[in-house]
Amino acid sequence: MAERRSPLRKRLIILIILTLLYVLLYHTKWITNVNLALLAVPGYQKSTRDQQLLTKDQETNHTFVEILRKHERENPNANTNYCTKISQHRMETARHVCMVNNIMPSNKPRKLDGFIVSNKYKFMFELTPKVSSTTWRHLLHDVVDPQCMGNMYGYRMLNTTLNKTIEEYKKAIFFREPLERLVSYYYGMMHYKSGQSVNNKKFDDLIIRSGIRNHSVMHTKPKGDIYNITFSEFAQMVLFYKANASIPSSSHYQRVGYKLCLHDYDFVGHFETLAEDAECFLELINIADQYSFPEIHIQRGNVRFSESMKSLPQNILRDLIEFYRLDYEILGYKIPKF
Ligand SMILES: *[C@@H]1O[C@H](CO)[C@@H](O)[C@H](O)[C@H]1NC(C)=O
Ligand SMILES: *[C@@H]1O[C@H](CO)[C@@H](O)[C@H](O)[C@H]1NC(C)=O
Ligand SMILES: *[C@@H]1O[C@H](CO)[C@@H](O)[C@H](O)[C@H]1NC(C)=O
Ligand SMILES: *[C@@H]1O[C@H](CO)[C@@H](O)[C@H](O)[C@H]1NC(C)=O
Ligand SMILES: *[C@@H]1O[C@H](CO)[C@@H](O)[C@H](O)[C@H]1NC(C)=O
Ligand SMILES: *[C@@H]1O[C@H](CO)[C@@H](O)[C@H](O)[C@H]1NC(C)=O
Repeated sequence: MAERRSPLRKRLIILIILTLLYVLLYHTKWITNVNLALLAVPGYQKSTRDQQLLTKDQETNHTFVEILRKHERENPNANTNYCTKISQHRMETARHVCMVNNIMPSNKPRKLDGFIVSNKYKFMFELTPKVSSTTWRHLLHDVVDPQCMGNMYGYRMLNTTLNKTIEEYKKAIFFREPLERLVSYYYGMMHYKSGQSVNNKKFDDLIIRSGIRNHSVMHTKPKGDIYNITFSEFAQMVLFYKANASIPSSSHYQRVGYKLCLHDYDFVGHFETLAEDAECFLELINIADQYSFPEIHIQRGNVRFSESMKSLPQNILRDLIEFYRLDYEILGYKIPKF
């Protein structure tokens, strides 16, 4: 009996040791991971803002973000001048185009579901998807005011009834060249290499439902098949659902310029001049001397953009520009020629 039990016990002891080792290793790995994750959140850099931090903006792959030490500005008045002028000019352009197109200010309460609201600094910032909204969330919530409310991670939207007090807050919104935004959305959500491509079946379904093609096209990856949707198919899908009066599933490619017709904003920023315009917003809410928007490197002459446009049949490109024409005009962007 003893002879038989002894090797069993040995095996048992070895098994226990192995299990303990595994648990220990696993936990060490887990703890390391968590610590690294904490370091990557800008909010934790508050007290050591000199430390450089390099994170990747996930919604615009070609954008890199660094939290840098606040630069001393040589001439603060020059910037204030730029801010006032540029925002006034944008609002005037918008008002004019709105009037010409007979889009009147709304007397309904403003919807708050896209806003981040800070009671401390008295601002309301409306996020636009694909216009560095991830970076704005990071900055405004994790760094500037952790108590701010609204459109944060996990879609905690604000109550839609507008508080009278809040109506006095500084309101800001940022826009981006409409087709650039569409391409950014495509590469972020649908392209087979995008981080979200595992979820792209719903787009494939929409494409098939609209009759753009009758079968799924798969791209085979080591981890399994994902759908291969071309930019041209996506563009056709946007047009199809627009013509048929129901754009399903996403506000990301809807037109956004009309917002400037319906309600007033204290500052209108552009993605293309993000560094300057972000600074303007921070000045507007009087925190420009304490915080700065992360440095953004925007690739000029984006290859992906021109390739996406080239891939479109002429009629699709024409219809797409037509679809966004009002946005181009309201937001003051030049309609591109290809
Ligand atoms: C994202 O950007 C990096 C650096 O520019 C590049 O190496 C990578 O291929 C890009 N990924 C996609 C999906 O475009
Ligand atoms: C919104 O706010 C009002 C007034 O504070 C409250 O009565 C209502 O229940 C809130 N609605 C939601 C969905 O939270
Ligand atoms: C309205 O604003 C006040 C003052 O900031 C705040 O205390 C209150 O909670 C707000 N109410 C709603 C419904 O947002
Ligand atoms: C899809 O199939 C239908 C019926 O077989 C056909 O009439 C149509 O041309 C096909 N459409 C495409 C885009 O292949
Ligand atoms: C994706 O599909 C298109 C045609 O629909 C094809 O031209 C392209 O080569 C495919 N790409 C990949 C990576 O599978
Ligand atoms: C809208 O739907 C109808 C019916 O499904 C279709 O014939 C038409 O081509 C669609 N419009 C566009 C612009 O795709």
